[in-house]
Amino acid sequence: MDRVVQKNIVLIGFMGTGKSTVGAALAARLGYKLVDTDEQIVLREQKAIPDIFSEHGESYFRKVESEVIRDVMQGSRQVVSTGGGAVLAAENRERMLAGGFVVALTAELETIAERVGQTSDRPLLQGDVRERIRSLLEARKNAYDFAHYTIATDKLSVDEIAERILAAAGLNPR
Ligand code: S3P
Repeated sequence: MDRVVQKNIVLIGFMGTGKSTVGAALAARLGYKLVDTDEQIVLREQKAIPDIFSEHGESYFRKVESEVIRDVMQGSRQVVSTGGGAVLAAENRERMLAGGFVVALTAELETIAERVGQTSDRPLLQGDVRERIRSLLEARKNAYDFAHYTIATDKLSVDEIAERILAAAGLNPR
């Protein structure tokens, strides 16, 4: 088994691609700890994500996000579910690649819109949600390409996605 796979599985992908749900399924199957970087940011700041954005701005959020990723990637036997913008900083991408098997989850705009609904907890999707998704998807077109493995989630169940990821990582379910 590959050394980075033994360490961690890192899920990346746009908002609404299923990172948290798939992460939970993978962690349960592997007996790995599930770590959600957004949750870690909230714990560290003692504030909800929309409040961090509105009180301190996105660049502050990104700084905390990078610190969280740096710290989390020191650990092992974790499934790490990351925020959709965590891939934007080169240092984060390097740490993910060095510390785990990086899996990109993708989904069509329609699927994402359906999954996020009229979300109020995602500061970057305020206003016309579909238009925000469309323009961010365009801006981040190639942002997730650095992953070791990429899977389109639109037509698959959570179990199917988890199984394919485990097979790609060379990990056998318990
Ligand atoms: C963001 C995605 C969110 C969260 C923050 C910013 C992004 O996480 O980190 O609202 O820039 O795409 P999810 O992908 O878990 O929604």
